[in-house]
Amino acid sequence: MITWREELNIGIDIVDEQHQELVRRMNEFMTACTQKQGKEVIEETLRFLASYVVEHFHDEEQLMARSQFPEYEQHREEHERFVADVNALLSQIETSGVSVLTTIKLNRTLVDWLINHIQKNDQTFGDYLKEKNFKA
Ligand SMILES: [Fe+2]
Repeated sequence: MITWREELNIGIDIVDEQHQELVRRMNEFMTACTQKQGKEVIEETLRFLASYVVEHFHDEEQLMARSQFPEYEQHREEHERFVADVNALLSQIETSGVSVLTTIKLNRTLVDWLINHIQKNDQTFGDYLKEKNFKA
């Protein structure tokens, strides 16, 4: 489980709220996996997470484009890679079911990516908006 902590806030309310929702959905997915809730439930929580990931990244990228964030391209590529990873995980679960070990390993990869991305890349973007005094 990921616990939300102060340093994950980037100081842009709309983005911070979406990140918290993202973490909630990530936690639901992880709980479904660790409680061995069965393939259908696990798939459902992962789809629920995946759709929000797409929605959130889209909103974040729009904000980047509007504010002319110089690292936009590179940031967008990171988002794309993550979406591809989540989709790969989804199709893996769909075809071969859920192995506890791989799921735990993959979960860790997703969580590490997300936390690292928020703390580094999204924080840089938040700082940029604040410096520019851009109203999100
Ligand atoms: Fe991001």
